[in-house]
Amino acid sequence: MARLNVTVGRTALKNPLIAGPAEHLIEPDGVRRALRAGVGAVVVKSTNESERGRDQLQRAQYMLLDDQWREIPWSQAAPSTAFIACRSGLSPLRFEAWLEQTVQLDREARDAEAYAIASLIVADLAHTVSMAKQVEQAGLRILELNIGTPYASQAKGVVSTEFEPGRVEAIVSAVRKTVSIPLWVKITGQSERVPDLAAAAFRAGSEAVVMAGRLLGFIPDVETMQPFLGTTLGVGGYWNLPLTCYWLAMSRQQLGADKPLIATNGARSGLDVARMMLAGAGAVEMASAVMLRGTSVLSYALAELDAYLQRKGVAAADLVGVAADRRKSFAEMPLRADNWRKYVADWQPGVGED
Ligand SMILES: Cc1cc2nc3c(=O)[nH]c(=O)nc-3n(C[C@H](O)[C@H](O)[C@H](O)COP(=O)(O)O)c2cc1C
Repeated sequence: MARLNVTVGRTALKNPLIAGPAEHLIEPDGVRRALRAGVGAVVVKSTNESERGRDQLQRAQYMLLDDQWREIPWSQAAPSTAFIACRSGLSPLRFEAWLEQTVQLDREARDAEAYAIASLIVADLAHTVSMAKQVEQAGLRILELNIGTPYASQAKGVVSTEFEPGRVEAIVSAVRKTVSIPLWVKITGQSERVPDLAAAAFRAGSEAVVMAGRLLGFIPDVETMQPFLGTTLGVGGYWNLPLTCYWLAMSRQQLGADKPLIATNGARSGLDVARMMLAGAGAVEMASAVMLRGTSVLSYALAELDAYLQRKGVAAADLVGVAADRRKSFAEMPLRADNWRKYVADWQPGVGED
């Protein structure tokens, strides 16, 4: 359907929905299911050289929370506001096996006019550079480099959370010098400088920037008085969508409309994809909703997005940045004298007024 076509840098995607990496994309069948759902691309579960990263997966813990911060059963039928808190790890496969598997999946993706995208998380840069080279030599067509995991402060040397534009530039330059395939860089959302981090990634030759990674949180359990899962947690959820859209809009304003942005964090539906595109994303990754509820989330999202585009009489590519470009400054907002009164729960008209 031409209506859904988008481009991200040099890459034409049949639609803007990308299955983002999490545990459901560790095994080939998970990736195949996502491809069958019709997504434009799948980013496979990330890897790096770190034995401890693989080990972390075997120590990983996951929980589902409701809007009262209570743990609820892990179930496809969970309320739509449920969100995942967890500690995750990396693909359990050794790099060579992961590479072989990803190459095979990308071959299958090509037949579906889609992509299986390699994903490396930086631990030691020299290893990352060497793995990036092997990714390209093996014939993979796109590399996503994650330098924005939530966990680096808790798992030193295993993953990275880069907060300094200078470091982002150095890392991305080193990888860019090594590979010529499209390089997408995933940055942290735990920063007030997301657009600066994106700018650094683009300066260093990133073709698209994925924004923004989940946050590190801490949630006390009022019953046990312990932290949930015993420690700090990676958190994200539907409630993060306004922040994702904010960073997209700010980055578009700061960097210009020609810098391809990809959204991650908080998309659950086709209309969420539209929201993130209106904020400036050229494509949108969806991960935890799919891990929790299954691949049908992807096909429903595509159908919902297509119906929305039809209803609005626009193509997906036409959505990119429309709302962001219509953003006004606070100073441009009209005067609304005493408007605030209507929003105070206990205020009654006439009572207490002069
Ligand atoms: C359990 C779990 C595992 C994840 N594993 C990876 C990973 O291996 N590589 C990566 O780049 N992101 C990983 N992520 C992050 C997601 O790809 C995504 O950026 C994040 O969850 C926010 O998007 P969402 O709201 O669609 O889930 C993981 C997220 C979760 C919840």
